[in-house]
Amino acid sequence: MAKNPSFSCAACGASFTKWSGRCDGCGEWNTITEDAGLSTGPGSKSLGSKRGATVTLTDLRAEETPPPRTQSSMGELDRVLGGGLVPASAILVGGDPGIGKSTLLLQAAAQFARGGLKTIYVSGEEASAQVRMRARRLDLTDAPVQLAAETNLRNILTTLESEAPGLAIIDSIQTMWLDTVDSAPGSVSQVRAAAHELTTFAKRKGVSVILVGHVTKDGQIAGPRVVEHMVDTVLYFEGERGHQFRILRAVKNRFGPADEIGVFEMTGAGLAEVTNPSALFLSERGEPSPGSVVFAGIEGTRPVLCELQALVAPSPHSQPRRTVVGWDGGRLAMILAVLEARCGIPFTGLDVYLNVAGGMKISEPAADLAVAAALLSAREDSALPADTVVFGEISLSGALRPAPQTENRLKEAQKLGFTSAIAPKGGKALGASGMKLNQMGDLTGFVGEVFGAG
Ligand code: TYD
Ligand code: MG
Repeated sequence: MAKNPSFSCAACGASFTKWSGRCDGCGEWNTITEDAGLSTGPGSKSLGSKRGATVTLTDLRAEETPPPRTQSSMGELDRVLGGGLVPASAILVGGDPGIGKSTLLLQAAAQFARGGLKTIYVSGEEASAQVRMRARRLDLTDAPVQLAAETNLRNILTTLESEAPGLAIIDSIQTMWLDTVDSAPGSVSQVRAAAHELTTFAKRKGVSVILVGHVTKDGQIAGPRVVEHMVDTVLYFEGERGHQFRILRAVKNRFGPADEIGVFEMTGAGLAEVTNPSALFLSERGEPSPGSVVFAGIEGTRPVLCELQALVAPSPHSQPRRTVVGWDGGRLAMILAVLEARCGIPFTGLDVYLNVAGGMKISEPAADLAVAAALLSAREDSALPADTVVFGEISLSGALRPAPQTENRLKEAQKLGFTSAIAPKGGKALGASGMKLNQMGDLTGFVGEVFGAG
């Protein structure tokens, strides 16, 4: 019989039977804590011989109508939710403290409430007066949102049950506590138990719940990642503190496409929607300069253009630096290796810095060619023409692979005034776009043609 796991990782939620300093699941250090008095974990008793009831089975043909959705009239939020809020769904909104989660959700609450959806906003972090002050700053005082400042989940559930709202926002899940769980608020057991209560409540009573979760890198507060498995939708609110851009990213969505992003700008009066992110991300671009390349990317269902910046300089260190912001460090190492092995362009003895402008984070492999172009442009000290966008995946052999949605990327680039694109051979028919398209089969050809070397 399996032993009841009594330790779990705050970062990834993996369960263990004994404590260790490093989580085997995600590799994080010092994130494993003991679960005290876990009320909702797997049971420790065996099933025994008592029989359960028979479950009704259906076949796959059963017709399901798409879920009805409530729009918030914040277009960027609705987009990330997959077209609006689905009734009885549970949503987790995670993000660093101070990034703007409470601001976003108070604005969303006001919009849903103005649209006629009964909305309750429960703050466990701030007093009602503080929330009202923020509402005044955001000019939302007229919205019929009901506020509560409470952390006792039993009281909250009782209130939600009698009020029967359409939407309840819980800010944040780390402040909630259940009297049946014998550990401090914010511990993994409390967070997991509270999220379990709230998600089952959502399904049972047909109330949509949005849970706010703080993420901290050092694992001090139990990360909301243990909650990710329980909810229907996980959204992350990201951005650099120094930048005004904020990106709401769907990382899991049972009711819509994952990887969709919504873009906002933090202003003095709350979050403003950015309906044309490409224009925003490129707005700070100056004259064409070496190392700067515009990547025509796709985020979810929407094309987004952004600028990649590279700097390559002789290194004073025996171990040259490789620093990446907004992209994957492993992928950068791969591209440097391919440039060296297939095109004979070494980066040994050179420091390499790569930055995605505007605080964007890119995960698409289609950025490979734009990264290679930025690195080469920086290394050769030669700027690419200002009216050119670049995209395409690079394989280890140095071949270029076509990227999905070529047509969409080109259309967006054209809309923003670009006239030519460098892309892999073999993309879909591109007649209509009117862009000058320079298609290449491999990286060596690209290096030869664009930088006259190779
Ligand atoms: P907040 O929503 O409290 O963040 P979180 O809930 O994720 O911890 O937002 C905090 C920051 O946002 C704070 O530093 C102030 C800034 N802010 C603005 O710039 N403009 C605004 O209108 C508001 C309400 C906040
Ligand atoms: Mg907050």
